[in-house]
Amino acid sequence: MSMNRRQFIVLSAATLAAGCAANQPVHLQPAAIDAGPASDFAADGVYSKFSKQGFFVIRKGTSLTALSSICTHRGCKVNVEADNSFYCPCHGSSFDPAGRVTYGPAIYALPVLPTSVDSRGHLIIRATVI
Ligand code: FES
Repeated sequence: MSMNRRQFIVLSAATLAAGCAANQPVHLQPAAIDAGPASDFAADGVYSKFSKQGFFVIRKGTSLTALSSICTHRGCKVNVEADNSFYCPCHGSSFDPAGRVTYGPAIYALPVLPTSVDSRGHLIIRATVI
């Protein structure tokens, strides 16, 4: 599935909060994003290749997960820091390597997105798009 930045929205507390605050319906659809061969993420660490599309890929031992890169405060993109924590440049929220808030104003953790590896060995990210 190919999509541009604008089309990709990860279902997050920020997205829902924005829709609720504006009293506007938010039309979301599930999608599967092919992040390529899981073997591309073999070494432990945070991979930011897809951060502009809305998620980080995180390898920790045998675990391969995806974490939203959209701040739960007001939806800015967060950056990964040298210690694999995350920082939002908009209002200064910080998140630990698991996505838990360590400093506000954000109060919700970065959502962990469901992942799987398909029959070709590709990492599939389950997200939500508008
Ligand atoms: S949008 Fe991230 S701290 Fe406000």
